Amino acid sequence: MAASTKSTNPPIAPNGSSGAFIELRGIHKRFGRQEILRGIDLSIHHGETLCIIGPSGEGKTVMMKHIIGLIQPDKGDIFVEGICVNHLREREMAPIRQKVSMLFQNAALFDRMTVEENVAFPLWESGVRDRTEIKLRVREALEVVDLQEHMDKYPTSLSGGMRKRAGIARAIVTRSECILYDEPTASLDPIGSDVIDQMILRMQRRFGITSIVVTHDMKSLFKIANRVAMLRRGVIKFLGTPDELRATPDPEIQDFINGRSNITG
Ligand SMILES: Nc1ncnc2c1ncn2[C@@H]1O[C@H](COP(=O)(O)OP(=O)(O)O)[C@@H](O)[C@H]1O
Ligand SMILES: [Mg+2]
Repeated sequence: MAASTKSTNPPIAPNGSSGAFIELRGIHKRFGRQEILRGIDLSIHHGETLCIIGPSGEGKTVMMKHIIGLIQPDKGDIFVEGICVNHLREREMAPIRQKVSMLFQNAALFDRMTVEENVAFPLWESGVRDRTEIKLRVREALEVVDLQEHMDKYPTSLSGGMRKRAGIARAIVTRSECILYDEPTASLDPIGSDVIDQMILRMQRRFGITSIVVTHDMKSLFKIANRVAMLRRGVIKFLGTPDELRATPDPEIQDFINGRSNITG
């Protein structure tokens, strides 16, 4: 299906029975003369953790931004639970963004708000006004990420890992079903990274949350991933389980996962 088939009724995935939570079909995207995505086909299942790997500048962040409608494809479609989201208007996108949240690299917290106020913010934004309910839901979310002791602090006095956890709490407070993480353990020390990995596993176990995690961190990947997708030259070059990734004979993939610098642009 091409993006040119604009209609007021968003097309439903013809094979809605596939059961995929999120589906990317034939996504193409270029910026000027630079062709970034050249036909991405990828399904994300309910409740799984899918890690996305690939060299820097390949379009991993661009691909994630397509899922929450921050970038529109030149060609192709994105489905969230069978609804084609790249045809939606900004207002129609709101319920999708509640279901699928993205945790950006810097967690994007408001420095002038406490952790508690930051986490409450999306609830206010989505129209919840009952202060008792807001307090309760914020506490619940902070408990999941072990930040309840720090809720009166301002983001500038938190460590990088704690800021990320506050970002996660802000994503789950609206009962998001899927969280997209863009390099969540980059710049964290091994212990900070492990805490984030444990949070991702905990949310999967407790709430069945689906996670899509862009990462360069192989240690983290082998702890959290149910499946791995490798983006290379604008397409999904590899898709499989972590065991299949380890076993693949492809030298380029082996170099990547073993940190050998043979990959050139
Ligand atoms: N809004 C934009 N306008 C122009 N070029 C962009 C834009 N966003 C990303 N790019 C380019 O697309 C390429 C892929 O970027 P990105 O998705 O950030 O890579 P990565 O795989 O490291 O996350 C880069 O060359 C980047 O400069
Ligand atoms: Mg990126």
